[in-house]
Amino acid sequence: MANVFSAGTTTASLPLIARRWTIDDIPDQTGKTAVVTGANSGLGLCTAEALAAKGAHVLMACRNELKAAAALESVAAAATGPKPEVLPLDLADLTSVRRAADHLDVRGNAIDVLVNNAGVMALPRNVRTAEGFDAQFGTNHLGHYAFTGLLLPALLRAPDPRVVTVSSIAAWGGVINWPDPNWRVLYVRWLAYSQSKLANLLFTAELNRRAREHGTALIAVSAHPGLSATNLYDSEAEKGVGGRLAALQQRVLVGLAQSDRMGALPQLYAATMPGLPGNSYLGPAFETFGYPRRAFRNPLAYSRTQARALWRLSESLTDVHYPWPH
Ligand SMILES: NC(=O)c1ccc[n+]([C@@H]2O[C@H](COP(=O)([O-])OP(=O)(O)OC[C@H]3O[C@@H](n4cnc5c(N)ncnc54)[C@H](OP(=O)(O)O)[C@@H]3O)[C@@H](O)[C@H]2O)c1
Repeated sequence: MANVFSAGTTTASLPLIARRWTIDDIPDQTGKTAVVTGANSGLGLCTAEALAAKGAHVLMACRNELKAAAALESVAAAATGPKPEVLPLDLADLTSVRRAADHLDVRGNAIDVLVNNAGVMALPRNVRTAEGFDAQFGTNHLGHYAFTGLLLPALLRAPDPRVVTVSSIAAWGGVINWPDPNWRVLYVRWLAYSQSKLANLLFTAELNRRAREHGTALIAVSAHPGLSATNLYDSEAEKGVGGRLAALQQRVLVGLAQSDRMGALPQLYAATMPGLPGNSYLGPAFETFGYPRRAFRNPLAYSRTQARALWRLSESLTDVHYPWPH
C-alpha cells in the first residue's frame, strides 16, 4: 500500500483520515538496524517482532535479563534477517544508559532507527531513578534524552536515521512543572506521567529542529498508541484507598483498550514509512483505537521556548551534551 501521507508534505498538511495501514504495509527493512527500548513487553515487543519480520537487525534494549531472554525467543522466531540481540539498558540509571550506548559505539554500528518506547506509568509516590529523579520523568524522558544523545554518532552513521519517541494521549494533560520537575514537593502520579509524555513531544520537536539546523539527515518523529492492553497498567499500587482507586482506574482503562498489536501500528508507521516529515505525530484514527493517522497534540508541544528550556534542563540533569550548540 502506498504511503498514506504523500512524500514531501509538511506536518500541517498531513491528511487526518488515513487508509487502513497494517504491519503488512511495512516496507522491507533488510539492511537496517533498529534499536527498540522496552522491547520485552507490550508495544515494544510487537514493534521488535514486526521490524525483525521485515528483515531488520533488531537490538532489544531491556532492563530485565530474564524477561528479555523470553522475548528474544519470540522476536527471533519472527525474524527473517539477522538474529535479534538483547542490549542491557536501564533507563532509570544513567550509568547503564552510558554503558549501553558505549557498547553500540564500540561495535561501530550504524543505527537506522531508534524507537524510544520504554515507559512507566502512574507509579506510587517516591519511586526514584538511580540519580534521584522522579521515575516517570527520569525513565520516560531523561533516560531517552541521554540514550539518544549518546547514540547520536551511531545514528549519524546511517544514511537516513530516524528517532521515534512514544508519547501518549496523556500528554494532553501535561505541563512541565518547571519549579519542581522531579515532583519532590507535591506528587500527583498522573500529572507526573502527563509531564513525561509532553516532554517526549517537546524532545522530538527540538531534536528534529536541531538535526535539521545542523544539516544532518536525521529526523525525529513521535507516535502514541491510544489505549492498548499491555503490562503498563500493572504498575505497583500504593497501599490504602488511593492505591485501590488507582488499581480500579487501571483495570477500567485496560478493559477499554485495543490490542497491543493495533497499538503498535502508529510507532511502526513512524519508524518505517518513507517520506514522513520530521516532527510528525501519529496515533490511532479514533484517538484511543484504530489504524494510524496524523495525531493532534497539546498546543504546549509546539512551544519552542518550552522545548529549548526542557533541552537545557535535560542537559544539566543528565550531563549529556549533544554536539549541536545553540
Ligand atoms: N499501553 C497504552 O495504552 C499506552 C498508552 C499511551 C502511551 N503508552 C506508552 O507506550 C510505551 C510502551 O508501553 P507499553 O504500553 O508497551 O507498556 P509495557 O508493556 O509495560 O512495556 C513497557 C516497557 O518499558 C520497559 N521499561 C520500563 N522501565 C524501564 C527502564 N527503566 N529501563 C528500560 N526499560 C524500561 C519495561 O520493562 P519491564 O518489562 O522490565 O518492566 C517494558 O519492556 C510507553 O512509553 C508508554 O508510556 C502506552
